[in-house]
Amino acid sequence: MDKLLIKGGTCLNGSITISGAKNAALPILAGSLLASAPITVRNVPQLKDVATMITLLQSMGVIVTFDDRLDIEIDTTRVTDRRAPYELVKTMRASILVLGPLVARYGDAYVSLPGGCAIGARPVNLHVQGLQAMGAEVVVENGYIHAQAERLQGANIVLDTVTVTGTENLMMAAALADGETILENAAREPEVIDVANFLNSMGAQVSGAGTSTIRITGVTELAGAEHTVLPDRIETGTYLVGAAMTGGNVRLKNAATEHLDAVVLKLREAGASVQIGEQDIAIDMRGRRPESVDIRTTPYPGFPTDMQAQFCALNAVAEGVGTITETIFENRFQHVPELQRMGADIQIEGNMAVCRGVDKLTAAPVMATDLRASAGLVLAGLAAAGETLVDRIYHVDRGYERIEEKLRQLGAEIKRVPA
Ligand code: UD1
Repeated sequence: MDKLLIKGGTCLNGSITISGAKNAALPILAGSLLASAPITVRNVPQLKDVATMITLLQSMGVIVTFDDRLDIEIDTTRVTDRRAPYELVKTMRASILVLGPLVARYGDAYVSLPGGCAIGARPVNLHVQGLQAMGAEVVVENGYIHAQAERLQGANIVLDTVTVTGTENLMMAAALADGETILENAAREPEVIDVANFLNSMGAQVSGAGTSTIRITGVTELAGAEHTVLPDRIETGTYLVGAAMTGGNVRLKNAATEHLDAVVLKLREAGASVQIGEQDIAIDMRGRRPESVDIRTTPYPGFPTDMQAQFCALNAVAEGVGTITETIFENRFQHVPELQRMGADIQIEGNMAVCRGVDKLTAAPVMATDLRASAGLVLAGLAAAGETLVDRIYHVDRGYERIEEKLRQLGAEIKRVPA
């Protein structure tokens, strides 16, 4: 297993380009199953999770062609298998995103339950209930969801909890259903809008994405299309926090700056000067130590749970005491014991982490446990004194494109140590 070796203490300085959003690319690749002609997806980030989704599609008979590094052509006209096996789903929960498109287009899907997950139980009951409301027969047995429907029917669905992939799965299914579907209490994340734009470019009739009520009028067929994936706001936020923690001065290009309000608010509270352009975002910490901030994760447009671990690392080295309250996932503080091993003073009380900033973290061997926790550890390593070795970085590779190259471009001393 590869590791990352980070020699801390260097300010991040310079500029890098942000990649396409993982959480938009994954549903869009899954959604290509709906199309009756080839699809071109541009700005696809080169990530382990994207590779897993492509392997899953290929296992179904989908033909995937790489035009150049970031553009992918997907031909789903010869799907022979409608199964998402446990071996793939267990490595990536987002595999569940093929469920809606498969039932809607082929009338049949056999998708493994994702099962437990490092950051909590994360059930998929709302995906299943939504499809049942649309008339699908769903049997859950032997660890698999078997869903069938001759043609899905439009339905009024009120989602019990705001769920991002649940909203996307049902929106995609409804695109080929008979009649109108209304999704209430829908997730408002920018990635949901990107998926809706993608569906509409294929000829779907989706309106209201980005609000909590999405209306989808089903059509009988979806055509081929071209779509460019929006920039990754979590990758952007992660590098911004890296700059804030190291007193740096960084410009991020091709960023979706309008999707970062909650994160920018907290960075400014921490003392950073943040300049927002149309597609660029710049942060200047002027060599200063950040001040602690209080964070409470909520669905978009609130503060994203996917940025929580990074701000936990920031609070670990900040001036004062900051609290982090996690309201989305019940077990998302696995970075805390690792940060404590680096000298952080953090106490967990229920769903809250109370961080008392220390002057300096000290390097230690640490272990990545999930994707965003590992990003928090990498940032901690950048700010720590000495050499931090982050193990199990396959978690980082799931969601950050060439992280060590991008950080090196910003002046960090970081290298990948092959297993
Ligand atoms: C997506 C993101 C992930 C992010 C999360 C929250 C993708 C590929 N992943 O994950 O990066 O951390 O949103 O912003 O986009 N829930 C249920 N029943 C369901 C579905 C969800 O109870 O059927 C609960 C979950 O346990 C959790 C909450 O709803 O407590 C939100 O989860 P959800 O938005 O579904 O997360 P994901 O879509 O899996």
